[in-house]
Order: sequence, then C-alpha cells, then structure tokens
Amino acid sequence: MQKVLVSFRFFDEWIKFLKDNGLDVKAWDSPVPPSKTWIKENIRDADGLLCSLVNRIDREVIDEAEKLKVISTFSVGYDHIDVNYAKSKKIRIGYTPEVLTDATADLIFGLMLAAARRIVEGDKLIRSGKWNQPWTPDFMLGTEVSGKVLGIVGMGRIGKALIKRAKGFGMKVIYNSRTKKDVDIEFVDLDYLLKESDFVVLAVDLNPTTYHMVNRDFLEKMKRSAFLINASRGKVIDERSLTEALKSGTIRGAALDVFEEEPTSPDNPLIELENVVLTPHIGSATHETRQKMAEVSVKNLLAGIKGEQMIYEL
Ligand code: DGY
Repeated sequence: MQKVLVSFRFFDEWIKFLKDNGLDVKAWDSPVPPSKTWIKENIRDADGLLCSLVNRIDREVIDEAEKLKVISTFSVGYDHIDVNYAKSKKIRIGYTPEVLTDATADLIFGLMLAAARRIVEGDKLIRSGKWNQPWTPDFMLGTEVSGKVLGIVGMGRIGKALIKRAKGFGMKVIYNSRTKKDVDIEFVDLDYLLKESDFVVLAVDLNPTTYHMVNRDFLEKMKRSAFLINASRGKVIDERSLTEALKSGTIRGAALDVFEEEPTSPDNPLIELENVVLTPHIGSATHETRQKMAEVSVKNLLAGIKGEQMIYEL
C-alpha cells in the first residue's frame, strides 16, 4: 500500500477519499501545525505529501524523504516549499491556482471598500456604544472608490480578476509587473504607479525579489491620500515601515489580509491604528473555494503518486 502524509488539519471527507483510493493515510489533526521533527519522522516512508502553507518543506525535510514522488500543496502560493531542491530530487509539485482567484479578488475589493469607506471603524463605533451624535454632513467621511485610480503590482490571475471588478467601479487601472502582460490596461513603471494610484494592490508572490518590497522608500512614493492593500504574502511588506507610514500620514490607510508572522502577535502595533483594516488570511476562505482547493490538491496528489498528469503542476 502506498503511503501519504497530510501535514495540516484537512477535511475529513477528503481524507476518506484518499483512503477509499487505496492509500495508507497518516494525517495531522490539529490547527496548530506539526513540528518539523514530526514531518521528518513521518515523511521517511511516504510516497506523497499533502501540505499547506503552514508547513515549511525545506531541504532538511526533503532529505528525509526516501520514497517521495509528489508534494501537493493546498495553496496557490509555494514559498513554503524548496521547489528547486524538490525538483532536483525528481519530486513533482502540485498546487491550486485558478480555483481561488475569484474568492481572493472579491476579498481584495472588500478590503479596499472597507478601508476607504471606514466600514470596520463604523461597525466598532456602534458596537462600543459610542454612536452618540445624529447624522451630519461631515460625519465619518471616507474616500470614494468609484472612478479612482487602481494600481496593481503584479499581473497574474488575481491581477486580471481585479481588472474586471475595477471596471465595474469605473476605475482607471494601471499595473506594473516584471514583464508586460497581455491585458488591455496600461503598463507603467513602479514609481509612476505609486505616484498616480489612489489604491495600490499587491498581487505578487513572495520570492527574494518581492521580500520587503514595500519599505519606507516605496511608501514615500505613494500619494498621501492613497491606500495600500495586501492579500498576497505578509513578508512582501516591511511592517515596521508600514506602521510608521500609517502613523505619520505618509499614506492614508491600509488593508491587510496577510502578515509577516501568522497568526500575528496581539502586540503588533498595527492593531492599534484606526486607519488599517485587518483580516486573518482569509483570501480564499469560502466554502466553495476551499472545496475546490481540496479537490485539486487531492487529485494532484493522486496523479503524482500514479505518475499521471496533474491538474496544476509547477
Ligand atoms: C494560498 O493558496 O497561497 C493562499 O494564501 C491561501 O489560500
């Protein structure tokens, strides 16, 4: 019997699906991820690994795996896997793009609207019993989203899904990415994008070139009235610089779904700021999307074990 290791808490019905497909499954069953030692011990005789972004699958882990044919990650991002090293060991890698694009683009728009229109601040005001003044023309004014300039940094699937949504809001959309893409909006250099955009959305993956891409210099090039939105990876932003920029008025606001460390510490100074909206890495967190991700990741795993074509392979 072939063995697979599931190194994060996964859906019961999909674990059953793997077992029904004749696999011997060893699955971690706690929301707190397993230690590296646990993964190293259990990966030794595994033919396949189903992991998520909470697991660091580095050289040390891969070196323990004597029989591994496939690593299938329940995510579109793969910065938690040493992809080149795995490939050098002839281990195939599956991931889950496409199926989470719409859910993530929807959340990004939600964050943008929430930050610009002070939705979370308003909610907190009511819940804290502090809504004690009648309607006035100047009460809780925010920033209009419709008709504004959206600057997208990175132009993959999520960037393209944002263009569609932005058009519905009558926004002007510009973008910057490593290479020009086949999209009907203007490609601009990063400095121009930062100078012109009312909303800057990060839609890049995390790699050595995007690590701390948002630093003091980046933020100082943005408009003072602009908002920064991130639902990609937390480490793309140097949070210390962002906190300073939000405090000093270098930019108007931010909305973040991802953090340098997750879960972020309750002591993170960003939490104290009114002009930032925070969500706990829920870009793809809808019932529909998580089921699709489960299906793709499980089918990638099975295909990798059987030596068949995966749905999405790196
Ligand atoms: C991913 O898939 O990489 C997201 O961050 C979580 O769905």
